[in-house]
Amino acid sequence: ISRGVGVTTQIYAARAENAEIWDVEGRRFIDFAAGIAVVNTGHRHPKVIAAVKDQLELFTHTCHQVVPYENYVRLAERLNEAVPGKKKMIFVTTGAEAVENAVKLARAATSRSAVIAFSGGFHGRTFMGMALTGKVVPYKAGFGGMMPDVFHAPFPVELHGQTMDGSLVALEKLFKADVDPDRVAAFVIEPVQGEGGFYEVPRAFMAKLREIADRHGILLIADEVQTGFSRTGKLFAMEHFGVTADITTMTKGLGGGFPIAAVTGRAELM
Ligand SMILES: Cc1ncc(COP(=O)(O)O)c(C=O)c1O
Repeated sequence: ISRGVGVTTQIYAARAENAEIWDVEGRRFIDFAAGIAVVNTGHRHPKVIAAVKDQLELFTHTCHQVVPYENYVRLAERLNEAVPGKKKMIFVTTGAEAVENAVKLARAATSRSAVIAFSGGFHGRTFMGMALTGKVVPYKAGFGGMMPDVFHAPFPVELHGQTMDGSLVALEKLFKADVDPDRVAAFVIEPVQGEGGFYEVPRAFMAKLREIADRHGILLIADEVQTGFSRTGKLFAMEHFGVTADITTMTKGLGGGFPIAAVTGRAELM
């Protein structure tokens, strides 16, 4: 196995149930990692396992574009209702793929190519996900030039001396020095940074970002890959902000350990 798969523990899983993991030596652990914010309802939730077993008895894959099936549509309907605003959606497989598609969508819908993300943010390991990620080590080091037209503004973390006002000034400077706001398709932001160190976006900052986005015709993409599915106490973290994103990416808790991801967006954009 390549060293690219950095392993953090020496615990080899034998089985897992709800919040516990037993390793191959028979030791029992309480699992605080949950597959990195994935098994939000615990390992092997009986409803998840029953749904998967039922499906396995019917078919595993037809490719929805070739032969569609009802539960794809039913899930889309439920998620469109759950995410604020009038939405449509697409399903993909991973968080990085959701982010890639969110950016493609924003670019196509606005006919603009630039994207602004935030320092410390994490958006995946594909080329666009990596470019958007605001952390060089360990995610970008050694991988050469990044995707063009991706910019970073400082994420406001008072603890580290980065005030909200400072971030807003930096954003204005970015517009003056690096990228005309009329060329910006989207802001991409995690409502609470995960990999970056668990920092919440200040409520007032999210409102300001919405305001700036609206002023310049920029779309707001909320990357809820990690925050989604009630990890912050509400189904989606954006519900805490009183601000609606134009596009939302999600996965992890959506599948409860099975690979499914989604992008929802305002119906007219989609
Ligand atoms: C906020 C955020 N976006 C994107 C990703 C990438 O998701 P995936 O690993 O499923 O590609 C992650 C993964 O941790 C994430 O936390």
